[in-house]
Amino acid sequence: MNTNDMSEKRKFVRLTKSQRIQHAILFTSTGLLILTGFMLQGEQWVIEMFGSAGDTIFWWRSLIHRIAGVAVTIICLYHILYVTFTKEGRSWLKDMFPRWRDLIDVFQNVGYMLGLRKARPKMDRFTYLEKLEYFSVWFGMFIVITTGIMMWTEYLWPKFYLDVADAFHLGEATLAALAIIVGHIFAVHYNPHVYPMNRAFIDGYIKEDMMKEEHPLWYERETAKNEQ
Ligand code: HEM
Repeated sequence: MNTNDMSEKRKFVRLTKSQRIQHAILFTSTGLLILTGFMLQGEQWVIEMFGSAGDTIFWWRSLIHRIAGVAVTIICLYHILYVTFTKEGRSWLKDMFPRWRDLIDVFQNVGYMLGLRKARPKMDRFTYLEKLEYFSVWFGMFIVITTGIMMWTEYLWPKFYLDVADAFHLGEATLAALAIIVGHIFAVHYNPHVYPMNRAFIDGYIKEDMMKEEHPLWYERETAKNEQ
């Protein structure tokens, strides 16, 4: 288990160094992909605004999109090796796996938010929303990487397949951008529990009060382990 109790400061390790590096590469490359991908939608506008420099801008756009595409592909492949072959990664995947308990948590949490229950359900190391977000990234990356490679190697494919790949690429890119801007930014920045931001992605730690509030089952397990 990658969690250490820092007894005096009572902070717990939420993200290890390897997980923080993977996250940093993922968010930098995804940010660049969103920026350089959606620029294509405004191509006409950029060309009108910048005139002949528009061509140079779009040449760089295309190059950066491909470099970031390769970076995101490598980090996804690395992550597969990480969750398969390292102890830390296997523990991550095991705790991330959906369980029946998650479904019960959904109903109980909605009940709590509607005022029908007094307390929030006790959640474990990863909440159902975190699990949903994590597996959405797997699904989304699979779609954008396969369709991205198809569009990159367009000379290999009949037009119909390329049109389908383009539609899936754009659709999934839009979903991912919205999920990141609306969902993830709210969860880790604007959520009143963590505002102005959850610093775990920088220093790796979660504070004890937040651990108790958001992941009480995990907290109980970790403190019991440390008291043994
Ligand atoms: C989160 C990841 C990604 C996002 C948000 C994204 C976004 C986009 C968007 C919005 C477009 C324009 C589609 C259109 O206007 O029809 C596009 C095109 C394209 N994307 Fe991506 N993309 C991502 C990942 C990738 C990856 C991993 C690759 C390659 C391995 C890739 C390669 C391409 C290619 C070749 C095109 C065709 C246009 C061009 O020449 O740039 N993309 N992408």
